[in-house]
Amino acid sequence: MRKVLYSRFGDERVLEVREQPTPAIAKDQLLIQVKAASINPLDWKIYHGEMKLLSGSKFPKGVGIDFAGIVSQVGLGVARYQVGDAVFGFLDVFKGGALADYVVVAEAAIASKPATISFDQAAALPVTGLAALQIVDQLAAVGQGHEVLINGAAGGVGLFAIQLAKRCGARVTAVTGPAGLQRATQMGADLVVDYTKQRISQLPQRFDTIIDLSDKLAFKAAKELLKPRATFVSMLPSPLGLAGSFFHNLFSSRKRKILILKPTATGLNALAALAQDGLQIPVEKVYDLAHVRQAYGETSQGKVRGKAVLVLN
Ligand SMILES: NC(=O)c1ccc[n+]([C@@H]2O[C@H](COP(=O)([O-])OP(=O)(O)OC[C@H]3O[C@@H](n4cnc5c(N)ncnc54)[C@H](OP(=O)(O)O)[C@@H]3O)[C@@H](O)[C@H]2O)c1
Repeated sequence: MRKVLYSRFGDERVLEVREQPTPAIAKDQLLIQVKAASINPLDWKIYHGEMKLLSGSKFPKGVGIDFAGIVSQVGLGVARYQVGDAVFGFLDVFKGGALADYVVVAEAAIASKPATISFDQAAALPVTGLAALQIVDQLAAVGQGHEVLINGAAGGVGLFAIQLAKRCGARVTAVTGPAGLQRATQMGADLVVDYTKQRISQLPQRFDTIIDLSDKLAFKAAKELLKPRATFVSMLPSPLGLAGSFFHNLFSSRKRKILILKPTATGLNALAALAQDGLQIPVEKVYDLAHVRQAYGETSQGKVRGKAVLVLN
């Protein structure tokens, strides 16, 4: 089978499609024939070597976290799935390996793919959809009438975060570049702000929640826009940042939270239910595996907004 691997850290030119033996499964595992896998910024942060502490430096390494495909083999201890079932799911964030013709998973890492969405759409859901769910439901506990600002709203997580916050009854202000404004409106944002034209520090509103998906908004700047009891969520879980947030939150009613993604099958099932209930899953660009370097080159340079997917057949 084909698998994307790399044997040193670097830019997308380190990625290679190599022939590998199809992996064997244990009693409690399933072999999935991958139809599509999506691209996440986490992928390139890992192969660039920016997350060595968490990913380790042992090579070769695989790429890709979330996927959708068809169950090809089931172990004797697997109860819920049969050969031929359409599923979607995630691999270990720091080990990766979804960009392959086959992946081995446990039942707890997959859910049934709703028939109403394509494999490309299902592959685009796990990491970004679960991140948005965790932020909106748990970290920020967004509720009816809350004022929510999403900075970086037209990216993979943002497009879902807008929709989930709206479903909670919030009023959403979406900050994007010029090319993302229309998409953010389509997802339900009440107000869109082009960050190339307006500084968010000049916005007149005060917010119950600010979600920074751009990695560029410091808490110090966001604090000025928060109501007295409010939450700021950011996406870079460094040990220093987590410790700083812990101590800050002991003494302030303006809370600082950092997402540490905890993917679960329960979360995937919640996303499947949302997809059946009309959650929009826009896939902006689809590449085939032979163009894996181009796919990562373009997405990591910000040339593709929202979700990009690689198809395997
Ligand atoms: N901590 C965790 O567990 C976890 C889990 C999932 C994701 N993440 C991280 O979360 C971040 C967002 O993920 P994603 O998949 O949504 O990434 P993405 O698709 O690349 O979206 C990021 C967005 O940020 C926007 N942006 C860039 N510069 C900006 C600026 N100055 N002001 C406002 N927005 C700006 C971009 O918008 P334009 O294209 O319009 O410029 C882009 O759409 C990434 O860093 C990812 O690694 C962390």
